[in-house]
Amino acid sequence: MSLYKKNFLKIIDLTKEEIEAYLQAAASLKAKKKAGIPHDILRGKNIALLFEKTSTRTRCAFEVAAADLGMHAVYLDPKSSQIGKKESIADTAKVLGRMFDAIEYRGYGQEIVEALAKYSGVPTFNGLTNESHPTQILADFLTIREKLGDLKGRTLAYYGDARYNMGNSLMVGAAKMGMHFTACCPAKYFPDPALIAKCREIAKETGSILRFEEDPAKGSLGADAVYTDVWVSMGEPEEVWAERIKDISPYRVTAEVMAKANKEAIFLHCLPAFHDLGTEIGKEIYEKFGLTEMEVADEVFLGDRSVVFDEAENRLHTIKAVIALALSEKGAF
Ligand code: CP
Ligand code: NVA
Repeated sequence: MSLYKKNFLKIIDLTKEEIEAYLQAAASLKAKKKAGIPHDILRGKNIALLFEKTSTRTRCAFEVAAADLGMHAVYLDPKSSQIGKKESIADTAKVLGRMFDAIEYRGYGQEIVEALAKYSGVPTFNGLTNESHPTQILADFLTIREKLGDLKGRTLAYYGDARYNMGNSLMVGAAKMGMHFTACCPAKYFPDPALIAKCREIAKETGSILRFEEDPAKGSLGADAVYTDVWVSMGEPEEVWAERIKDISPYRVTAEVMAKANKEAIFLHCLPAFHDLGTEIGKEIYEKFGLTEMEVADEVFLGDRSVVFDEAENRLHTIKAVIALALSEKGAF
């Protein structure tokens, strides 16, 4: 099995063995970085980083990973490039494919990153679309494995909007790795039934059990890891806040939710998180709706079961593994 020259577009495209290979490479690259062992194995190579949505972790992870690997990265935001407005995705892809060894894309529809991959002819990596956030899943799984020792047979409970990129990608990843997965939210926020059906097929092979739970008091029962994400994602209109708050407020990850999970259960969040009034949006929501915290209670976010900053660090090591395995013919680190 080789990941050389492979795209990294969505978790459902990967086999369990491929996910395992990315995690192993990430662990090995992390150990090298911690030990101060240089790993600039991709000197002379170039990567284009296309961001149509904002980012802290993903952009920094790609830039630092590229630098550690000896590469040069070029960051393009929608305002300073022609993408979409004056030049089609296909034409942009063909141009970038002539100049770069790999492309990362963060933005809207999954079809855009798929088109970039198709027309550029170079390995293309999904840094988040509306439908999926596959590099985040690698960081989450590396973190769970570091903290709990294994993935198979563990239970991950996801609270919040399970129809969007994080809910979708975690469900697929869990099914692939033989983890049990519970989506806990109102039924209208459950993932797309067609995706659930595909995951149920995968789960038959791997032993994963998928649950869809509307009762917030039951979602975390038996969970080894509790996960949540923002209630309104990037690119969604501001008008959806009122309905989202009404629908998903009962699904905030609180100390009670954590108390129902297994004794050693960890808390994860892809970040950024609304857990206090330290953000502009958090303050606006407080003024309009009176909430001082949203998807996660501050005491859980800052509590001793929270592993969110280890998880954020692991974005670097896992993204580095994705780039390195796609661009290094040798493959082993
Ligand atoms: N988790 C994540 O993708 O963070 P950024 O939006 O900061 O990249
Ligand atoms: N669902 C969130 C994830 C952010 C990392 C969003 O798309 O904004």
